[in-house]
Amino acid sequence: MLVDVIAGARPNFMKIAPIIRALSDRRATGGRLRWRLIHTGQHYDPRMSGEFFDQLGIPAPDANLEIGSGTQAEQTAGIMIGYERLLFAERSDCCLVVGDVTSTMACAISAQKLHVPVAHVEAGIRSGDWSMPEEINRLATDSITNWFFTTSDYANENLRRAGVDSSRIFFVGNTMIDTLLANLQRLKPPAFMDELGLKSKSYFVTTLHRPANVDCADGVSELLDAIGAGCRGLPVVFPVHPRTAKTIRNVSELPANVHLVEPQPYLEFNWLVKHAKAVITDSGGITEEATVMGIPCLTLRNSTERPETVVLGTNELVGTNPSKLGPALDRVFAGKWKRGEIPPLWDGRAGERIVDHLERLLCDLDGGL
Ligand code: UD1
Repeated sequence: MLVDVIAGARPNFMKIAPIIRALSDRRATGGRLRWRLIHTGQHYDPRMSGEFFDQLGIPAPDANLEIGSGTQAEQTAGIMIGYERLLFAERSDCCLVVGDVTSTMACAISAQKLHVPVAHVEAGIRSGDWSMPEEINRLATDSITNWFFTTSDYANENLRRAGVDSSRIFFVGNTMIDTLLANLQRLKPPAFMDELGLKSKSYFVTTLHRPANVDCADGVSELLDAIGAGCRGLPVVFPVHPRTAKTIRNVSELPANVHLVEPQPYLEFNWLVKHAKAVITDSGGITEEATVMGIPCLTLRNSTERPETVVLGTNELVGTNPSKLGPALDRVFAGKWKRGEIPPLWDGRAGERIVDHLERLLCDLDGGL
């Protein structure tokens, strides 16, 4: 039985790595599932894609749809057509998608229209904010998903409220955290560490890529000024996402302690987070990693689809108003930030649980062998 594992954009790669590993381990010991890794090409720069495959030991994709840049609709349409062609050439028994990027939704639609069952990893999370393309992707994907693999009880509850029968919801934990735990001992400092004078717990890491925060130069400039001032002159390392780079070109002056660097590979990025005093971000995945590493996380958004990182973890929603950042950072400097705890089942074994369930579900469909 053939499972298509779909990956398209940076946050997908760490989520598929443990699933691929579990699939090949199972195959090596006589398991029935074969798999085909499909890269949609939504992210294509080596720094956004290839380096993650190398560092995480993900094998080269069996197919690359090479969709590249475009509007949301252009990317969605291109991926749907490309994946449909692959399915026509060789039909698979299951399309496994992860996360909430455009590739996730596009492949789920192509598969389901050809009656290929869809399994969604990280299903059920909701920010309630329809201005985020990711929220539309989550809603659309989950509305046509057969099997829901979830990271939290919040996600389970969201799905049940939407009418999904409990028999189709599998609370398995978090594959992104599988990858983090498997690589904690391999994290390594970036080459620029000495040059920027980074000392453990005496620097900050920031990432910004949400359209609401980065699509206007004045807005980014205001946020970076607040970050620079709130960090009290300590170095702030800012790996710049390509989308943000386009806007930052038009910012006339950056605070002296904010250092722009290229997007970082996985092992270097998480090394930076692990040794930082705090992280300031508008990402979702980073709030999970910071929670597991016990690092204070200040999220520059008004909502989150991952409430467990706030209720249990080290994350707090500071919001998008730059004036809120200073008082929050004051609490970090005063040592008054919450310590947090690790959410249930974020134990490094989600990938194995997913493959256990998939094997059983697909065998049942195939006549119970
Ligand atoms: C995507 C995901 C988002 C995820 C983020 C992480 C969607 C809707 N959004 O947003 O959930 O958190 O990735 O990175 O899928 N670009 C490059 N090189 C690349 C990739 C992109 O230069 O390798 C450029 C594109 O041309 C575009 C911009 O970056 O101008 C944005 O890329 P896109 O894939 O549209 O979405 P992201 O903002 O990266």
